[in-house]
Amino acid sequence: MTSPVDATTTAAWSALTELKAGFTPDLRGWFDADPGRAERYTLDAGDLHVDLSKNLVDDEVLARLLELAEQVGVAERRAAMFAGERINVTENRSVLHTALRRPRSDSLVVEGTDVVPQVHEVLDKVYAFAEAVRSGSWTGVTGKRIATVVNIGIGGSDLGPVMVYEALKPYVQDGLECRFVSNIDPTDVAEATKDLDPETTLFIVASKTFTTLETLTNARLARAWLLDGVGNAEGAVAKHFVAVSTALDKVADFGIDPDNAFGFWDWVGGRYSVDSAIGVAVAVAIGPENFADFLAGFHAVDEHFTTAEPARNVPLLMGLLNVWYDNFFGAQTHAVLPYAQYLHRFPAYLQQLTMESNGKGVRYDGSPVTTDTGEVFWGEPGTNGQHAFYQLIHQGTRVIPADFIAVANPAHPLTDGDADVHELFLANFFAQTAALAFGKTADQVRAEGTAEEIVPARVFTGNRPTTSIMAPALTPSVVGQLIALYEHITFVQGVVWGIDSFDQWGVELGKQLAQQVTPAVGGDEEALSAQDPSTQALIRYYREHRTR
Ligand code: F6P
Repeated sequence: MTSPVDATTTAAWSALTELKAGFTPDLRGWFDADPGRAERYTLDAGDLHVDLSKNLVDDEVLARLLELAEQVGVAERRAAMFAGERINVTENRSVLHTALRRPRSDSLVVEGTDVVPQVHEVLDKVYAFAEAVRSGSWTGVTGKRIATVVNIGIGGSDLGPVMVYEALKPYVQDGLECRFVSNIDPTDVAEATKDLDPETTLFIVASKTFTTLETLTNARLARAWLLDGVGNAEGAVAKHFVAVSTALDKVADFGIDPDNAFGFWDWVGGRYSVDSAIGVAVAVAIGPENFADFLAGFHAVDEHFTTAEPARNVPLLMGLLNVWYDNFFGAQTHAVLPYAQYLHRFPAYLQQLTMESNGKGVRYDGSPVTTDTGEVFWGEPGTNGQHAFYQLIHQGTRVIPADFIAVANPAHPLTDGDADVHELFLANFFAQTAALAFGKTADQVRAEGTAEEIVPARVFTGNRPTTSIMAPALTPSVVGQLIALYEHITFVQGVVWGIDSFDQWGVELGKQLAQQVTPAVGGDEEALSAQDPSTQALIRYYREHRTR
């Protein structure tokens, strides 16, 4: 196995360390002295218009960051990923989510097999199924057309589909609704089904492995609910359950007709899978044509990432900026703030994408990482966040890089009297990044007549880094582009840190322990005594207080 280059030993890292030591961010001064800054630092990737100019960088820092990318071999690793080399070392797998959005006319031979025809064969099956549900030719066991699709999955088998469904609500066919069940808390499935008619409900069981406890438990609960609701009608499961998995044998064991199962491959990571058959709920909701546009959006950004020169390459630069903040400014978190209500699940989706990918303490050769990795991603749609946590971003003591996302055309162009409400909304988007960048000086505060003792509390230091991402509208293609952008940002950071961004061993221990603890929770004294004192006491509390 080759070892990753240790970024901290590169000449570029040393140069960046030195630069940072004498670095005084001055966005006001930089913009005053350089009228071309905004234009120079604004780039396009597909339909995404990305303004990097309010970041704490100058040309020299950017040049050194690009050298860092070169010295750790980002381009080589990117080529290896796109070619299907087994860069997911700890699972000995290729990483080929980018193959999922290649056009039908492409070809990509990996270890002797062209994967593109395989991808399109599954897509054709997904599209035919989506059409059947949408047209009403697919009916439930009593002959009624499907009104509600319930996706049962968790992690990547939930967060991607639900985020995209919410983002593309205006594209959902009238008379169709999707719901999403993920949590093993029985409340989730109970709430999702309580007002549904079993005769018009279709379940999609989405699980890459088809072993995930939460998903299989919820699928069994849903199956019992369905059978109860249709009087155990023969053939009910076949008409009301489909599955998406890489383990089609396990799907059959569950009782789902393999004809109603959509496959994918072990080279698609769960958090990179919404563009595979895992997105079938979305395909049903928005239709094959829109789903194809969604995939084309991903592909446009893949093309940008692989062909744009480094200095104009948006995912590369955004990944490197994150490294700059994480490792040289000590940033521990990164806010993502969509000024688009339909993107309200985007931060949650990004949490899995980024944190399951880059929350690692060892590099892909097993050696410890040499610098911090994996910042915490978080966020809420603007303007809600403005009235909640922006205070800390504006005046707190920590560096919190923030990505602001907005579209020019709203789905609902409403007016309030003479006011265009989308414009009121966007005025906030523009104002916030300006306030964060340029702040408000003590003299400006005084000039407003503020009493001297209050002046310090009303000063805004500015120099708070933001990236603004705009697009013409929240179309299926733009949503695909946004996802691909963040996938590649995550990849770039992972390469700099030398980690395997495509495994997720860190979720295993908790799963194993939950299995060991289950008998103790159920009252097995021997299993209980095997637990640590704190866990024992908590379980005893639970057992004493449970009344039903
Ligand atoms: O536990 C983490 C994880 O493996 C995620 O990576 C994955 O997206 C999720 O569980 C669901 O897994 P599956 O699709 O196999 O049910």
